[in-house]
Amino acid sequence: MSSQKIGIVGSGLIGRAWAMLFAAAGYRVQLYDILESQLATALQELDKDLHRLEEQSALRGNIRASEQFALIGVTTRLEELTREAVHIQECVPEVLHLKKSLYSQLDELLEEQTVVASSTSTFMPSLYSEGLQKRQQMLVAHPLNPPYFIPLVEIVPAPWTSPSAVERTRDLMLSLGQRPVTLKREIQGFATNRIQYAILNEVWRLVGSGILSVADVDRVLSQGLGLRYALLGSLETAHLNAPGGVADYFQRFGGEISAVSATYGETPNTQEDRETLAEIARQCEQLVSLEKLDERRAVRDEFLIQLAKLKKQFE
Ligand code: NAI
Repeated sequence: MSSQKIGIVGSGLIGRAWAMLFAAAGYRVQLYDILESQLATALQELDKDLHRLEEQSALRGNIRASEQFALIGVTTRLEELTREAVHIQECVPEVLHLKKSLYSQLDELLEEQTVVASSTSTFMPSLYSEGLQKRQQMLVAHPLNPPYFIPLVEIVPAPWTSPSAVERTRDLMLSLGQRPVTLKREIQGFATNRIQYAILNEVWRLVGSGILSVADVDRVLSQGLGLRYALLGSLETAHLNAPGGVADYFQRFGGEISAVSATYGETPNTQEDRETLAEIARQCEQLVSLEKLDERRAVRDEFLIQLAKLKKQFE
């Protein structure tokens, strides 16, 4: 158990999820937001969520929900947030000028021991930290939603981020029970979205060319590949799929992989190809109407709890 202080900037969906992860590991958490009303709502939601998880036996950590909640405080003063914080997790909306203005304020206030990690899913850290004096203390630690049940965190340094900031963030994530991966250098889309977008592009082509319906193309993942990938990555999957392991796999199937890959064609323009978009939206809404999205999300999250438990056993 730790009594070190963690600051969280932005108390929306992701800020609250980080607050719960840090409190579960015994850290003192302070949430900062520009809206006082937002902080009040965040505290109410956190109290409710922690107790609900406790009732579902899905609460993380070794202390009770009420003790975890007691570790979480709030402030509307950035100078109070930065005081004696070992780590600040930034969770403000995905708007570059907002992030830039916040980071220039933080640049004035950051103490020497503090690392600031952005939860951004799209901005490379150099985009908002360039030119700042304390830019070596800044990096990205990108979670996946919902972070409470999906342990991956992508740690992405800017060219000037200090190796010790990267190392400390990695250790901190491990201390929460998250599973960090560290990119050697920043790259657009990090790793998750690069892989996710490769899948989305091909799914788009298969539906756009009329080869598969939305329901069937999604089944290829949810009833097929996804079941393997829930346990193992694509390389270990390949390793297990040939008698002589991964080298044998690529020797056997490499020709076919290249031949199929050569037929992919151009990257779809998902903003301009209105026809395919309309067709995908029509079929998706037949599967789940817009009014039912919240209900479907809730069911998914409920089953993610079970899956997270099962996956722990697998590991
Ligand atoms: P959100 O809109 O739920 O919450 C943002 C919060 O920041 C609000 O409470 C707002 O009042 C506050 N805020 C706005 N300007 C601020 C400022 N200058 N200083 C302090 N607080 C400020 O947003 P959400 O979804 O939590 O996203 C936050 C970050 O997490 C974004 O960078 C997003 O890309 C990233 N992220 C989001 C995921 C998602 O599925 N929602 C998944 C992974 C990352």
